[in-house]
Amino acid sequence: VEADNGNEPTRETRRVLTCDLLVHSAAQVLTLAGGPQRGRELGRLGIIADGAVAVSNGRVAWTGTTAEARTGVRASAEINAAGRVVMPGLVDPHTHAVWAGDRAAEFELRLAGKSYMEIMAAGGGIMSTVRQTRAASLDQLVDETRPRLQRMLAHGSTTIEIKTGYGLETASELRMLDAIARLNAEGPWSLVPTFLGAHAVPEEFSRRQDAFVDLVVEEMLPAAWQHAGGAPGGLFCDVFCEDGAFTVAQSRRVLERARELGFGLKIHADEFVGLGGTALAVELGAASADHLVYTPEADIVALGQSETVAVGLPGTPFGLGQTDYTPAGRILDCGGLLALASDLNPGTTWCESMQMVIALACRNMRLTPAQAIAASTINAARAVGRDREVGSLEPGKRADLLLLDAPDYRHLGYRYGGNLVATVIKDGVVLQMQP
Ligand code: NIG
Ligand code: FE
Repeated sequence: VEADNGNEPTRETRRVLTCDLLVHSAAQVLTLAGGPQRGRELGRLGIIADGAVAVSNGRVAWTGTTAEARTGVRASAEINAAGRVVMPGLVDPHTHAVWAGDRAAEFELRLAGKSYMEIMAAGGGIMSTVRQTRAASLDQLVDETRPRLQRMLAHGSTTIEIKTGYGLETASELRMLDAIARLNAEGPWSLVPTFLGAHAVPEEFSRRQDAFVDLVVEEMLPAAWQHAGGAPGGLFCDVFCEDGAFTVAQSRRVLERARELGFGLKIHADEFVGLGGTALAVELGAASADHLVYTPEADIVALGQSETVAVGLPGTPFGLGQTDYTPAGRILDCGGLLALASDLNPGTTWCESMQMVIALACRNMRLTPAQAIAASTINAARAVGRDREVGSLEPGKRADLLLLDAPDYRHLGYRYGGNLVATVIKDGVVLQMQP
């Protein structure tokens, strides 16, 4: 900026931004600026060629070109991105990352022809993990989960939602919330807790399903709210609405009570059967409805006119060896907000990589890489109510950044099975990922 002060000689009063860290010379900076992306607008990456990002106090201070940064930014530390892609940290808005044990034996049963819901009806499935999780101490739960979160972070997930639901009794559900809170405090990841007390009907309540719903509504929900409702960023409540789990009427009871208490709402809907869970989510103003494989057309239309985010979980049909996926094209045609998540869990899909989820979404939900990236960043942040904090590189947001070892964003989706994330920056801190 040149200032001409009347008769005095022209003086340069260039404004220089001072910051802690400047990442420069990126082949592409994907800003994802402008908020959640609805319908066919999905895929607006906000690309800055030869881009740069300035970070101050753990927040994004500025984005622009490297040329602009050279004259306008002074940083105490610099990273030369050297032709890599720089993008916001990935947000994984649906996981069951806290559990004890594994279900490798069930994987073999499924390969031999048994279905997921058959195994569950026979007392395996979710109940098998419930037995192992109930028996685990808080320390054990934290220690089994931490390496999973470390791998998720190394693959680029900087904000991760985690559900309870393997306790199914008050004390064990609260222990799962404690495990999430402990791991969140350890960091460096940001965790979003969700109470999923209505994940399955435990064996001690078999044939007394409504009595179990009573327990969830009257005892567990208030206890969970008291325990963790003050968690920064809030607390969500989810329910598994499915044949063999909870009916729409039972799901409604749980979610209505949760809403009264102050929870944000989520639902597992239409994973195996289109029951009406998505319509319920829209009616109740849920933050998200997740799975949506067998969603009735009318519910997709309603979703498209709502603020409820549709969360596709392509790892789940893939993990189960099934061929039906969330109809992303219909959701986008109807104007819906679409996000992606891993659904990481020991039963249907032990997948810790949102990069793999993006690759699956491109092939099986027919998203473009740009759409899948927006669905895994700004829209995923919306699904957990954190879109003002994370999901894009805009001034004031958390400086959660990835450097991809790739010259073009389309390498996400195109390449799979490996890890393109070269560097993770969380809250402005450059993390040492590999030993
Ligand atoms: O989202 N469907 C319900 N819950 C999980 C599976 C949990 C499990 O099998 O342990 C899901 O797929
Ligand atoms: Fe799930």
